[in-house]
Amino acid sequence: MNSSSNPGLIPDFASNISPHSASNVAPDVVVVGAGLIGLAIALELNDRGASVTVVDHGRSLSEASTAAAGMLAVDDPHNPPELAALSRLSSQRYPAFLRRIEALSGIAVPFQTETTVQYMADGTTMRLAEHSIDPRQLAAALLAAVKATPIRLLEKTRIAAADDTLHGMQLRLSSGVELSSRALIYAAGAWTSEVMTTLHSDSISIAPRKGQMLRVRLPSALPLDEVHRSERVYIVPRTRGPQAGTALIGATVENAGFDTTVRTEDLDSLRALAAQLLPAFASATEAPLVESWAGLRPATPDGLPVLGACARTGQFIASGHYRNGILQAPATALVLADLLDGKPPSVDITALSPNRFARS
Ligand code: GLY
Repeated sequence: MNSSSNPGLIPDFASNISPHSASNVAPDVVVVGAGLIGLAIALELNDRGASVTVVDHGRSLSEASTAAAGMLAVDDPHNPPELAALSRLSSQRYPAFLRRIEALSGIAVPFQTETTVQYMADGTTMRLAEHSIDPRQLAAALLAAVKATPIRLLEKTRIAAADDTLHGMQLRLSSGVELSSRALIYAAGAWTSEVMTTLHSDSISIAPRKGQMLRVRLPSALPLDEVHRSERVYIVPRTRGPQAGTALIGATVENAGFDTTVRTEDLDSLRALAAQLLPAFASATEAPLVESWAGLRPATPDGLPVLGACARTGQFIASGHYRNGILQAPATALVLADLLDGKPPSVDITALSPNRFARS
């Protein structure tokens, strides 16, 4: 990965790449978190020749990655301006990201919509050329893609200890297995702070921010193929795949810890907000409920992601994507791989640096 003139943050990374065929080799990189962000990073690093292990305390892609609505909301006027460059890069990278996943998995993930109708507070609307995807379709394809690579995926596994060594770190897994690794990337979504605290790394506050959501059958008189979104609610139709003919209505934004209870009164409020945009959604007869759930967005104190090197040598963080994790996965993977590769990232990530939370 490295050029000799630019040695990279992980010394001798390229020259120490382990043969992919061996199952018990020391990984170059361990990623904590098998959500969309963690697996996108793993795939990018694998494609650049690194040996990668991903560790997750639960099951892959089972949290925010599959709770999301899947809007690639690159032009949402309510997004913080500091997100614009990363969002734009990610949106440009999406077709290549999906092609790579399809090449590995044989599963095509189609865009569900190509336009978003954005409702502004002054009563006007504008049409944005944005896409959406079905995150569950993406998850199935991504998992199959990762399994088609030499990436080692260890589910239901925690890292119990990480000790610095001369060439990187020694990790002890909850299974009792010991691994030596050159780099550790924290990408555990809403659990990132917990993992970092356990391993005595920098303490960056990333809190769960709950979002409840419902999926309803599309009213028969409303063959919707555009996202409709205001600052308070969005309606995201599924036009292809297993969810075609339905629409998601989301989402609450709550500080409720790790609680994922779904409350009927909150679903009713979301439906009422949706009906302000498209009245047919008011009726549970016209738009019957299919399912409901809640997910946990990883939120930082300033609402921006945290991307970059931690104070502890060889440790990196890619988390806190809050409401835009699905959109920002491909660019986040590029940025992290560039950092490990010793290259300047393709976008300015100064505003997203972990250093911004350092105590002065
Ligand atoms: N990305 C939409 C949400 O966070 O509700």
